[in-house]
Amino acid sequence: MVGEKRRRQPSYNAAAVCAPGLEKFCAAELKGLGIKPKPAGPGLIEFSANARQLYSANVWLRTATRVVVRVATFRATDFEHLQAHALKIDWSRWLGRDHVPKFRVSTNDSKLYHTKAIAQRLHQVAGPPSTGEPEQLFIVRIERNTVTLSIDSSGQALNHRPWRQDLGEAPLRTTMAAAMIQAANWDPTTELVDPFCGSGTIAIEAALLAANMPSGGDRKFAFQHWPDFDPGSWASVNGTIAANRSCGLEALAARPKLQASDRNDKAVEMAKANADRAGVGDFINFEPVVVSHLKGSSGVGMVITNPPYGKRMGDAKVANLYGRLGSVTRERLPNFGTALVTPDPKLAKAADDLLVSVATFRHGGLPVRLYIRPARPSADEAANSAASTDT
Ligand SMILES: C[S@@+](CC[C@H](N)C(=O)[O-])C[C@H]1O[C@@H](n2cnc3c(N)ncnc32)[C@H](O)[C@@H]1O
Repeated sequence: MVGEKRRRQPSYNAAAVCAPGLEKFCAAELKGLGIKPKPAGPGLIEFSANARQLYSANVWLRTATRVVVRVATFRATDFEHLQAHALKIDWSRWLGRDHVPKFRVSTNDSKLYHTKAIAQRLHQVAGPPSTGEPEQLFIVRIERNTVTLSIDSSGQALNHRPWRQDLGEAPLRTTMAAAMIQAANWDPTTELVDPFCGSGTIAIEAALLAANMPSGGDRKFAFQHWPDFDPGSWASVNGTIAANRSCGLEALAARPKLQASDRNDKAVEMAKANADRAGVGDFINFEPVVVSHLKGSSGVGMVITNPPYGKRMGDAKVANLYGRLGSVTRERLPNFGTALVTPDPKLAKAADDLLVSVATFRHGGLPVRLYIRPARPSADEAANSAASTDT
């Protein structure tokens, strides 16, 4: 309407936090959302965002742990400085009427080092700690006397997936599963096999990706309680989720079912229950079989898997298992590539000489590597590409 002031769109200096080693995958996801990523150190990718982009990052990033927004950066070498700077912050921009602040503090190489005392001083300025009220998390990092104060926009960590309630032995971190699928360059119109599926993390993450559904399902986020929360931008992000879901599920139904198996019947039951909760149970074929009995396929696809690391199985036995995985893949899935995580390069070699290490991260307290061998083209595809180079 003429004369009516339009509400100013908030803008944010945001950062996606991820497990160290996953930065390039998280940055690629941000790019896919039309956001320019700026790598800012281990486990951190900064970006500028409007409200819609901030909300979308929370909904669609599959490899991030949380999304934070910078509130203030300043130098402080004593509590007086800290409180003087904290007094300049407009806390009412960030704290909803019912919410109280919670400070998670870490320091390194700084004069202020007593994390509890730092949090207490910040509470004196921003408001007392919770006595039952809902909390808004602020993350305070003091590095060489420079304080970076950020607000958490996610709430519950993004790597928590509400559908993953039944867990088998050594479950894979969900964000790592998402990174594996991305690194494998899996084309959702082709097949996917996980012969060591455990709780089904890889197959479920892949099915959600293929169906264009968020990995975190229908959940609430911390930004929804912020005073500058923009319902219009949120409605638009939600509209995309709903539209994607209906055509994504239709597309998934028309494709080959994903194959997930494990020798442990109980794990397979858990994986099924997780997949049903995620809304993709109808698109994954779960089977309780050992890797030697894996079904074959003449189609194209990827084996994406997290085999046992073998701490309890003994070296020779586990190397045999990786060897078996390799021979079964070559014989029965001749046009498939492989993506696997393992801490031991010798185990990767036992599975497939052509596997190449593309990323390193920590899992279960161990440094593990992600190895990839791309899918081999099918005979038809190879013939087509030969024909196109002939002309
Ligand atoms: C590291 S766990 C996989 C965890 C899974 N990615 C998850 O997120 O839950 C390895 C799995 O391999 C299974 N396994 C071990 N030996 C097997 C074999 N010979 N054939 C099939 N599965 C096997 C175990 O039962 C276990 O569930």
